[in-house]
Amino acid sequence: MNDRVLVAGVDSSTQSTKIVVCDAATGQVVRTARAPHPDGTEVHPDRWWEAYQQASSGGILDGVAALAVGGQQHGMVTLDEDDRVVRDALLWNDTRSAGAARDLTEELGGVAAWVDAVGLVPVASFTVTKLRWLAEHEPHNAARVARVVLPHDWLTGRILQQGSGFERWTTDRGDASGTGYWSAADDDYRLDLLERSFGRVIDVPQVLAPAAAAGRTANDLLVAAGTGDNMGAALGLTLEPSDVVVSLGTSGTVFTPHRSAIRDETGAIAGFADATGHHLPLMCTLNAARVLTAAASMLGVDLAELDRLALQAGPGAGGLSLLPYLDGERTPDLPDATGTLSGLTRSNATPENLARAAVEGMLCNLVAGVDALRDHDVEVRRVLLIGGAAASRAVRELAPDLFRAPVVVPAPAEYVGVGAARQAAWALSGEQDPPTWRLDVDSEYAVPPGDEQAHADVVARYRDLVARTHGI
Ligand code: XUL
Repeated sequence: MNDRVLVAGVDSSTQSTKIVVCDAATGQVVRTARAPHPDGTEVHPDRWWEAYQQASSGGILDGVAALAVGGQQHGMVTLDEDDRVVRDALLWNDTRSAGAARDLTEELGGVAAWVDAVGLVPVASFTVTKLRWLAEHEPHNAARVARVVLPHDWLTGRILQQGSGFERWTTDRGDASGTGYWSAADDDYRLDLLERSFGRVIDVPQVLAPAAAAGRTANDLLVAAGTGDNMGAALGLTLEPSDVVVSLGTSGTVFTPHRSAIRDETGAIAGFADATGHHLPLMCTLNAARVLTAAASMLGVDLAELDRLALQAGPGAGGLSLLPYLDGERTPDLPDATGTLSGLTRSNATPENLARAAVEGMLCNLVAGVDALRDHDVEVRRVLLIGGAAASRAVRELAPDLFRAPVVVPAPAEYVGVGAARQAAWALSGEQDPPTWRLDVDSEYAVPPGDEQAHADVVARYRDLVARTHGI
């Protein structure tokens, strides 16, 4: 007889919905399923629901006792009085509210005032700026808005609406901390900031405790609070203090679990909360894995060949540098930037150097996040490399030198989904702490001796190019 308890984590990300079913006691992944989302930076939330239904249609949830949703952070889902979606959700990577971000920063009295209030400096990604954009550009839609929720809040509510389990809209500390109107340091909403942004106060979801249940579905599935995708990944990776994660997906993120809230007036590190009751200081870039796919397509090669070429060139790519701001950039705050290839000469114009410059440029963009954490006295014991581009051999081999820390590549897994499943197991257990699950490691890369200067030069030249090109 099989009496093991199963839990599911749903990763509702920018590109797809993934469902991961795990053994609640050990975290062992039992089965997975996925379904795609449409491309673009705005999407109707019904598409997430359809993808969830498609992914769960093959019986993947059979026998599952509890579930939680990890979702892309910050997306603005606006609902009317009857909980109907007012307009397509604007996603975290939609940069149309960059002007609103600048206005809001100035109106409150500048960067320090925002960091004091909510631990972050407005950029186009954050929900608070999207609300201002909506109020200014679509007053007819804004007038219909009764409440605002995040992607994971919406999908959690939608799952509960299936039966009698839906009582109220809920969220968690992790995702709430990315709105710009909830403070991780104070554990509370700042509805004055929501009102400042939108012109009036609207309903916001109730913030649940980390192991609380949002409700139960008609077939008695416990639905946990859920969280933002980065907080989900942190839970799935069973992080220890001084573990720094570098995630190379559609976005690039650098984050670490922390006992206290970090205040970063440079705006590079956002003072988010995590999904365990503590904090998750995080830096996010808009350009990561897709820099490599763009470079590969420029060179007319696949990703394996891009790796081979990059590893054939020496550190510094013969003097070629790439600022990888292909989708604009969020950190540094350059929403209208484009990529820059600099230092091109007749002698360094080779596929090898171009491939190398792409890998170095993408990593240097994230070195800034690791160093910003160091500036806040975070000890970087090791870097855990996850996300699509962590599969790249060139990325793995260059990362320890550029980050100046040993690099661990966890076994490939859907860590956001695993983390959401771990949260579901925690909510089901009623225990004080999340269950102890083990992290499987794929490979480890030490900082190689020698060559420090060559790599320090790569980072220094990159920083200099950012300063010369963008005046920061
Ligand atoms: C983090 C962020 C992204 C999204 C990606 O602040 O905006 O990592 O959460 O889904």
